Amino acid sequence: MHSLLPPDIPQGETPALFEQIAQKLESQGYAVLPASLPETITDALMQALAIQDEYNFRAASVGRGPEQTKNPFIRRDRILWIEPHLPAVNTWLEWTEQLRCFLNQRLFMGLFSFESHFAYYQPGDFYKKHFDAFRGQSNRVLSVVTYLNRGWEPGQGGELIIYAEDNHSELIKVQPAFGTLVLFLSEHFPHEVLPACRERYSIAGWYRINSTRLDHIDPPA
Ligand code: OGA
Ligand code: MN
Repeated sequence: MHSLLPPDIPQGETPALFEQIAQKLESQGYAVLPASLPETITDALMQALAIQDEYNFRAASVGRGPEQTKNPFIRRDRILWIEPHLPAVNTWLEWTEQLRCFLNQRLFMGLFSFESHFAYYQPGDFYKKHFDAFRGQSNRVLSVVTYLNRGWEPGQGGELIIYAEDNHSELIKVQPAFGTLVLFLSEHFPHEVLPACRERYSIAGWYRINSTRLDHIDPPA
């Protein structure tokens, strides 16, 4: 029998999860799926994190290009970009690539590339309300966040709050619990990370469209 799925999308739990993501993005522009990242991916990411030294994480910047600055009043987390040469990140990169292909076929999103980083928040660290992209200024179109915190308890803070674009009312408050998956349209949802009373590990990633023009190579090398 012929499958309608392209050959690079695996059978099993993943297509059902991808379909759930697509439906939520289509109906509300964001998706929050608790305990959803497949175990093979969370296992690999935990391993990738375990072999990194804390000192490989660097203070995160705010803004893009020449306007990039470090601003501890806006964000306090430290980050480590996930590059293909980092050990044990392949499974994550393959999975995000499969999701990219799926969303392009299902929602015609034209997603072209993906970038992501680990983020480490020490107790008390936060990331004030922000957009991941500003309309017409960036080629980030879809944000993906997931968490690597086992045994997160509701009283420990560290929630991600997603706000409505028009009146900034709170849409959802997400516990940074292990394997929870969050996706939202980058230009449309302001969001913030509240301080926590324990260490908090997340991954934030962005699918980008290709805005290369003759005078402007993007994504930058
Ligand atoms: C970000 C971000 C959310 C989180 O890094 O841009 O919004 O919950 N992260 O870690
Ligand atoms: Mn963000």
